[in-house]
Amino acid sequence: METATVSNETEYVPGAWRHEILRRRTFAIISHPDAGKTTLTEKLLFFAGAIDRAGSVRPKKQRKTATSDWMAMEQVRGISITSTVLQFEYEGRLLNLLDTPGHQDFSEDTYRTLTAVDCAVMVLDAAKGIEPQTLKLFEVCRLRRLPILTFVNKMDQPSLEPVELFDSIERVLRISACPVNWPVGLGADFRGVAELDSRRFIPYHRMGGYSSGEELALDSEEFVRDAGTGNARQLSEELELLGGVVASFDRERFLKGEQTPIFFGSALHDFGVEAFLNALVEHAPPPQARAGKQGPVDPLEAGFSAFVFKIQGNMDPNHRDNMAFLRICSGRFERDMQVYSARLGKKIRMTRMHRLFARERETLEEAFAGDVVGVVNPGMFTIGDTLSAEPGVEYGRIPSFPPEHFAVLRCLDMSRNKQFRKGIAQLAEEGVAQLYHDPEAARWEPILGAVGKLQFDVMQSRLLQEYGVTTTVDFLPYECACWPQGSAEALARVRWPSFGFGLVRDHQDRLVCLFRSRWDRDHFTPDYPDIVWSDMG
Ligand code: G4P
Repeated sequence: METATVSNETEYVPGAWRHEILRRRTFAIISHPDAGKTTLTEKLLFFAGAIDRAGSVRPKKQRKTATSDWMAMEQVRGISITSTVLQFEYEGRLLNLLDTPGHQDFSEDTYRTLTAVDCAVMVLDAAKGIEPQTLKLFEVCRLRRLPILTFVNKMDQPSLEPVELFDSIERVLRISACPVNWPVGLGADFRGVAELDSRRFIPYHRMGGYSSGEELALDSEEFVRDAGTGNARQLSEELELLGGVVASFDRERFLKGEQTPIFFGSALHDFGVEAFLNALVEHAPPPQARAGKQGPVDPLEAGFSAFVFKIQGNMDPNHRDNMAFLRICSGRFERDMQVYSARLGKKIRMTRMHRLFARERETLEEAFAGDVVGVVNPGMFTIGDTLSAEPGVEYGRIPSFPPEHFAVLRCLDMSRNKQFRKGIAQLAEEGVAQLYHDPEAARWEPILGAVGKLQFDVMQSRLLQEYGVTTTVDFLPYECACWPQGSAEALARVRWPSFGFGLVRDHQDRLVCLFRSRWDRDHFTPDYPDIVWSDMG
């Protein structure tokens, strides 16, 4: 694997740094599970030359991501739980691809990852169109005004009518859609795509994707013969129809997240992937200015700054340590650099910084704005921390999702209680679940809050694998948590319900109310208008 670092002997001038920063493209792929995110990731790596052979990084059936298979549960369940980082070069650009879990129970992890990218790729299953998780993730991208490129996958299989797909992207996602190519024939009769700009037909071969040099002009007889008369006629009708309603590609609107270019293809059959990769490197923006509390921080003008968007423990059994993932927002980061932690109010020496490629890690001498690096975290960093060369920079905190499921986790073997506590603390710090306790309880028992139930399975599985602790989960009948904020007097006046309600404390010792339903909460809280009831921890 080629490294992205530049020789340490280089005499750096700001111009060289600028070049390094400007060539970076940091993006994530979002999709509903099974739409083909993993397959597309793998094919992008393949076409960029980062892996020798698609499929080589994971065994079939066992794999669900090209990379993030370090947790046993991911392999058994076939879902991607953790996010990983892939860095690779293509056409002089340096791409940082942040993998995200597709399952909705891990939306919080995905959300945090989306705070660390400048662009997103949305993969749709051509037979299903916009699915619930796609919509949810898209809304997060919209909040961040992220530019999005869309890949409509599995065109080799029966699919929805392209006009219907196009229409639902515009209607459901409320974004202007701009097709870059258009399918010719569908399902078993899929013949290829017509490139709208060049007015060329790119044929698809069921057994072998596509070979360059086979393109045909849309107005040629060969095209009609290859595509079939019916398909050629339908294409011309659809293009005429689209001509009246489709906006042409507008890069400014794309960069503001108002327009998405759409590419039809088949990741599994290598069809349309290379063109998509070319468009990605051409259109995805370089590292963008990020809003700090003191105003926007320019990646090129400011000194080093970064924020922690993810903590991951025990990534590799050979390196049983805790890794903080940093997105570098401005400037250059170098080994042994002293950085200032805005939360701790002190400087920290960064001795071991890693470039992460799936399970592998490699010590880095330097990294630039746009990069995502891992630093070994001896309990010094938490999610949302800002680190900078000089004090005075602080990025906004990353909100956590309101939990919807609650349970008590019990350790079955009391002789492993110490490991149990250690594991719980570590996993809560990583954000696998939120941790509470009942201050009135006779003995300490962790109460967990999670966005999705699978998070409890992850917790149990990791406690067993990494800490040798067997646990049971007893679900609690609550549906929402609320953090009351007010003066001590106002809080003392509250008459807490005696039934269907829980009062616990979180890891920062803040009071948390657990309600059986949102209805209960919405009927209780208005009685105390001098208290702010926040559902974000
Ligand atoms: P995900 O990460 O979004 O969850 O999806 P993933 O890439 O794992 O793809 C889900 C399934 O869809 C896989 O099949 C994959 O091979 C298949 N797939 C992906 N892209 C295409 C495509 O362009 N055309 C077709 N026909 N299928 C595609 P699987 O049976 O679940 O796994 P496997 O047996 O292939 O490993």
